[in-house]
Amino acid sequence: MAKITVNTLKAMKEAGEKFCCITAYDATFARLIAAAGAETMLVGDSLGMVLQGHDSTIPVTLEDMAYHTACVARANTDALVIADMPFMAYASPEQAMANATELMQAGAQMVKMEGGTWLSDSIHALVERGIPVCAHLGLTPQSVNVFGGYRVQGRTPKGAKSILADAVEIQDAGASILVLECVPAELATDISSKLEIPVIGIGAGPGTDAQVLVMHDLLGLGEHKPRFVENFMAGQASVQDALKAFVDAVKSGAYPRPEHGYE
Ligand code: KIV
Repeated sequence: MAKITVNTLKAMKEAGEKFCCITAYDATFARLIAAAGAETMLVGDSLGMVLQGHDSTIPVTLEDMAYHTACVARANTDALVIADMPFMAYASPEQAMANATELMQAGAQMVKMEGGTWLSDSIHALVERGIPVCAHLGLTPQSVNVFGGYRVQGRTPKGAKSILADAVEIQDAGASILVLECVPAELATDISSKLEIPVIGIGAGPGTDAQVLVMHDLLGLGEHKPRFVENFMAGQASVQDALKAFVDAVKSGAYPRPEHGYE
């Protein structure tokens, strides 16, 4: 596979070709994920839960993210590596620039930040200085205490309108990709069709341009099993086969099915 860039992903969206993202936290799995053909891998701050045993992403530090990004980047071959900016690492454009620099120098090729309109200045500042940005809307886990739990977002007409407005604004600010987490499938489909940038869904139904799952979840290792998770290890002989089964299912449209989404 040729090296994946933001242009590859945009071209795939334009051609109606689905692409894949899997979370990666270490060198071994980064190698397997790249070999499975996933176009992107996300060094997610979900590592706070699946690696560190916390009950949220809030305790994860920039040092943690830089360490795991470096581990992943060393073993990656062709996929685009996206690294999460941790909780409160991008409260101002200045902080975002300083902290995104660390993740890029650790090996990330793009950084992800949770939030909408309020992030516009930071997105603009990063992109102008050479750091591509993936935005994250809907159920943004770093705001779990504001939401009062891990709840589906955008279910009311007002909530849906606000997520759509945020999505347009972050695209205008220069974001290259949007992750939409746990929003009604109809809203995710509408946003994906209105945006020019690729939209990666998780718990957002089949209408987005790409899908992401936390690796531990798709391997059936998750402690909780949200509705949108499928165990791709079932019936497979190896982890490598399970990762490939996920990639193939996303590309063929076999995953996610309507029952994986929310109304
Ligand atoms: O941290 C993470 O793994 C994420 C994905 C669930 C999108 O943000």
